[in-house]
Amino acid sequence: MSLTIRRLSMAAGAEISGIDLKRPLNADVVQEVKQALGTYGILLFRNADLNPAEHVAFSGQFGPLESHVVGEFNLPDHPEVFVVSNVRENGKLKGAVYAGQYWHSDLSYMKKPSLGSLLLCHEMPEIGGDTMWANMYLAYDTLSDTMKNFLGCLKAVHDYSHAYDTYFAHLKERPPLTPEQRAKTPPVEQPMIRTHPETGRKALYVNPGFTKGIVGMPKEESQPILDFLFRHSTRPEFIYRHRWDVHDMMFWDNRCTMHYALADYDFSVRRHMHRTTVAGDVPY
Ligand code: SIN
Repeated sequence: MSLTIRRLSMAAGAEISGIDLKRPLNADVVQEVKQALGTYGILLFRNADLNPAEHVAFSGQFGPLESHVVGEFNLPDHPEVFVVSNVRENGKLKGAVYAGQYWHSDLSYMKKPSLGSLLLCHEMPEIGGDTMWANMYLAYDTLSDTMKNFLGCLKAVHDYSHAYDTYFAHLKERPPLTPEQRAKTPPVEQPMIRTHPETGRKALYVNPGFTKGIVGMPKEESQPILDFLFRHSTRPEFIYRHRWDVHDMMFWDNRCTMHYALADYDFSVRRHMHRTTVAGDVPY
């Protein structure tokens, strides 16, 4: 079997076929997939009818996996699998509801943010519930040289609590982080422009979900700059929007994309996904 790559849009994304997802990949194929990930930002694998053990085994070929800090939504037998779901059993939610309904890059609030995430669709409403990704290489490439130079010297503060203080503030299903969870996720400083370690390309590295300021600037200076960058990086021509089929699995690169889960579906209809997260390095 040989790997086939078909681009999904001009902005980002490629569909990968010709791989048996249930068997170990040989080292050359792992390398080809990693290269495609850095190049296209998001990889779609269709018909990924994987159970949690298979999902973990496939994902683990791209690096060590991390368990989500909100541990109640990790599968007990497979803590590397984080459940994103609106499904309730005996009145109790089976996963993180309203997850990712704002632009963000996974774990940008950690010193070593995630390399990539693999989200596998198990149940999806017939209408709505798409996910969008923004290509942060394009966001960087299309800035003026003056702005590139200015941002190139700056760091931004990323904080998981920011999402809870803003997007989740009014949602009783997403109570504030516990003191233990906060202690595991103190604010961190990240370069505003990062270099992708595999492609060598530069990408804008800020996101509305977790970036709450620019180091060395008061809010009244930093917020207008961040607001511009958030608007700029989500221009429609930088976006790939995916309509999920059951058993689609998306592997995205958190180093050069950010993503947004659309909340445009009937919440009484089941949307149920499993996510694994591959550990990454300190951004530079
Ligand atoms: C996430 O941000 O990991 C969730 C994305 C989604 O549910 O589409």
